Amino acid sequence: MTNVLLIGFMGVGKGTISREIVKQSGIIALDTDDIIESMENRKIKKIFEEEGEVYFRALERRVAIWLSHSVRDTLISTGGGFYKVPNLNFIGTVVYLYSDFDSLYERILNHPNAKSKLTKRPLFKEIDKAKALFEIRAPEYERVADIVVDVRHKDALQIAKEIMKKAMK
Ligand code: S3P
Repeated sequence: MTNVLLIGFMGVGKGTISREIVKQSGIIALDTDDIIESMENRKIKKIFEEEGEVYFRALERRVAIWLSHSVRDTLISTGGGFYKVPNLNFIGTVVYLYSDFDSLYERILNHPNAKSKLTKRPLFKEIDKAKALFEIRAPEYERVADIVVDVRHKDALQIAKEIMKKAMK
């Protein structure tokens, strides 16, 4: 197996699905936002506030280069904009978790920590802007993906099994 990358819009459940796959398979998992937070020793929200998005995207590109050179046999969940790094496919098999915007927004709102889920995401501050970003990105995610998994009306276990079957042979 090579690496498997989970891409998709904010709130689609990349972290939750990653944790479920770890539980089912014992694979080691990394998250690009976690790597960036430890590189910088500050939260994503702070990085956006103090340095801006351009700086954050440069960090994502550094992480991508490191992953493609140094990481093997690992499940990698990514921030919602990570898919823009050059040569994403050099890192591993790219799995796009697809949901429509209303379903993923509802998923966030139904979470017990909904407020913090929204405030920690600088690009999800305004619903109209987030929706516009979703519309732009949806075809782009699909274009860079090797595999598309529709996550709607499925629980984490079902989605994890589907990804393991399709991408982790
Ligand atoms: C971003 C998504 C976030 C985080 C940052 C930017 C984006 O990750 O990387 O706030 O551009 O969509 P999640 O997708 O885990 O929320």
